[in-house]
Amino acid sequence: MALDPDAFTRCDRSAVWPILQQRWSEAGRSFDLRQAFALDPDRATHFAIEAPHVFADLSKNLLDRETRDLLVELARECGLPAQRDALFGGEALNLTEQRQVMHWLLRVPPVSAAWRPSGLDRLGAELAEVHATLDAMLAFAERVRADEAITDIVNIGIGGSDLGPQMAVLALDTCAQPQRRRLHFVSNVDGHELDAVLRGVRPESTLFLVASKTFTTIETMTNARSAREWFSAQGGRDVARHFAALTTNVEAARAFGIDTTFGFWDWVGGRYSMWSAIGLPIAIAVGADNFRALLAGAHAMDAHFATTPLERNLPVQLALLDIWYRNFHGFSSRSIAPYHSGLRRLPAYLQQLEMESNGKRVDRRGEPLPFATSPVLWGEPGTNGQHAYFQMLHQGTDVVPVEFIAVRDAAHALPGHHVQLLANVLAQAQALMLGKEDAGGHRHFTGNRPSTMLLLERLDPASLGALVALQEHRVFCSGALWGINSFDQWGVELGKVLAKDLAPRLESGDTEGLDASTAMLVRRLHG
Ligand code: F6P
Repeated sequence: MALDPDAFTRCDRSAVWPILQQRWSEAGRSFDLRQAFALDPDRATHFAIEAPHVFADLSKNLLDRETRDLLVELARECGLPAQRDALFGGEALNLTEQRQVMHWLLRVPPVSAAWRPSGLDRLGAELAEVHATLDAMLAFAERVRADEAITDIVNIGIGGSDLGPQMAVLALDTCAQPQRRRLHFVSNVDGHELDAVLRGVRPESTLFLVASKTFTTIETMTNARSAREWFSAQGGRDVARHFAALTTNVEAARAFGIDTTFGFWDWVGGRYSMWSAIGLPIAIAVGADNFRALLAGAHAMDAHFATTPLERNLPVQLALLDIWYRNFHGFSSRSIAPYHSGLRRLPAYLQQLEMESNGKRVDRRGEPLPFATSPVLWGEPGTNGQHAYFQMLHQGTDVVPVEFIAVRDAAHALPGHHVQLLANVLAQAQALMLGKEDAGGHRHFTGNRPSTMLLLERLDPASLGALVALQEHRVFCSGALWGINSFDQWGVELGKVLAKDLAPRLESGDTEGLDASTAMLVRRLHG
């Protein structure tokens, strides 16, 4: 069943929207965090949320209980609970492509859990296929792990077919012990990337995974063809043993010459696909049990999102804050600061998740929106960011809400490091909020700069799964309130078409019909 685009009120058409606007001009614009803590002794605990594997301190954000209640009212008026139920009911939320959005189905455990998504009543066949594919993929991963002859795995994929697996493999590095093999990720069409990897591997000990939902993406197909040519040129035999495909387009993989294929379905969006066969590199790195734990952590967050009242529902509360900052305060970016070097690719992963999902200027009916949508996401792991751009966060002219992620237990035994790391993450959040008076100007910190703190007990498969699912659902919620389709990505198409036209022109030098600037650049680059 397709979602009715008119079934839900768009945020700006709700009755509470003008009340929120008034609230912002009367109390939001001048809100002071230090004062708020002084006035409300329970503020820290009141704005803390305990979700599966993730504890969130939202108290250092620029809102009080009254504003939070108005935002919850906004969620109700926009039918957020019903939109969430449509997601877990398997409705075709992706209207422009007439597709269901069911990445959550990939994490439903085989034996009935405490919470069952409503759509399962109709999705028994799909769930059975999910589990059959998962079992086959995990069995393959275990065979690769046991195969002493394979020393290198090269994942060739881009966007959702790269960012999730790469981020998770780095994050779960310590679960991969003993590490007997190297995982490489090649995404860019820039041959430097593949070339560097190929220089360090041998055909007889390498497994190439060609990861592409569509199996048509130019970067991935160019890299895959070059890898196959290199393999043959180096005397490699047995393509069947050394290449596997992860795709919804099994036919195209076969036509490419790959027989070992792990499939998935068009109802899994690329940026939501690390739970599917696209997660094979993760399973090879950490093993089947850890991959199942990753799914279980995400499923626990699904259950939290589906069943927790809006006031205590972490994805909902994060999304409401995002709306408050973007549409009322006018903040145009959010900085992600994971204080764990294993999460160093998380900002890049979240960029695709949020900006490809919600970087839209029209609503579900295609009508231009009169308000701002996706913020720019950016960030680096702490403490590195502190020595680069935190100057701007503390004293710049723009206010940038920061999302800190801290992990209580270290997964290494080096003395002295972890306490420094944790002291720094707390200090940065404190400094942003408290500021510091100094008459001299240069040393003055205004403070009152907002941040959220997400705490994990440890970075393990279950907590990573929960953290990622949390972010998926938060993006879903803000998209639902904005009334946009968060599940298509037409904005990436035009550039692809133009590049197809320009590639032969760069070889021939033909500039006929091009705009003057592009023609000049083609002439410069030709030959
Ligand atoms: O061009 C954008 C995009 O379609 C992303 O949404 C997707 O994750 C990426 O390209 C890769 O697509 P595929 O997995 O089909 O190669």
